[in-house]
Amino acid sequence: MNIDAARQKAVRVIAVASGKGGVGKTNVSINLSMALAGLGNDVTLFDADLGLANIDVLLGLHPQKNLSHVIKQECELADILISGPGDIRIIPAASGVKMMSQLNDMQHAALIHAFDELVASTDVLIIDTSAGLYSSVLSFCAASQEVIVVVCNEPASIADAYALIKVLHLEHQVDRFRVLVNMVDDREEARFLYRRLVKVCDQYLDVVLDLMGVIPRDAKVIKAVKKQQALLQIYPGSPAAMQFRKLAESVNKWPRSKHANGKQEFFLERIISSHVAEQAGLMI
Ligand SMILES: Nc1ncnc2c1ncn2[C@@H]1O[C@H](COP(=O)(O)OP(=O)(O)OP(=O)(O)O)[C@@H](O)[C@H]1O
Ligand SMILES: [Mg+2]
Repeated sequence: MNIDAARQKAVRVIAVASGKGGVGKTNVSINLSMALAGLGNDVTLFDADLGLANIDVLLGLHPQKNLSHVIKQECELADILISGPGDIRIIPAASGVKMMSQLNDMQHAALIHAFDELVASTDVLIIDTSAGLYSSVLSFCAASQEVIVVVCNEPASIADAYALIKVLHLEHQVDRFRVLVNMVDDREEARFLYRRLVKVCDQYLDVVLDLMGVIPRDAKVIKAVKKQQALLQIYPGSPAAMQFRKLAESVNKWPRSKHANGKQEFFLERIISSHVAEQAGLMI
């Protein structure tokens, strides 16, 4: 498929973010990716987190190469893709995310070309972002069509989610968010947390927050992490796994929206351009 054809393909780009660390972004990214793949989607999971418990660690994978090797033109993007559980493809980003801030024109063009080709065979691109309000997190979210904000029942989680939503709205014009409440004991607790976030946002911001789903606190999630395997793979009948499958069914029905800003350019182009523009800053 040529680049123009690749650009026309309606890839759904979803960023998973939270503000606060440790609320479940990486588990959500992995299991939602697998559940979407289970529904017949071609799913690519982009590890945009340089933290310790990132995708390869959670899945016991040992990538030899990452995005930094593609940027240095030591290999092709296809060479760094790893097959994950449930037929998902994983882009191990590692230091490549940081390097996106230092691309020269040729590297910039080469990376966009590589991603265009990849997108030609992808229905859904899920981006697992870092905790914190780093500019890389913000630009990944701003360039995505959908932003999933993961929250859990800790005061800092709601406060940090609000901080993330605020900066994405005020500085990047994102006006709609999908809220995913994780690690709760019942739906009442989830609705309470969602309402708290809506209340604080409504007070100061003109944004829409959709409650996209609830993932229960489930000891099997912790077990799967310890075993370095995906929940959906080893505990497919667990309560959290069942919710991930329900979540995927609703994500599958989301309208294939244009970018919130009405922009049509491809995602990576926006990411890289914004990074290039910010060369002076520490990106991640
Ligand atoms: N639904 C759940 N039930 C029980 N425990 C959970 C659940 N979701 C996540 N956890 C626990 O929270 C921990 C952190 O999850 P995860 O690494 O996915 O968070 P994160 O938001 O990606 O963290 P970071 O900000 O460091 O990247 C997991 O190791 C697991 O122990
Ligand atoms: Mg993580």
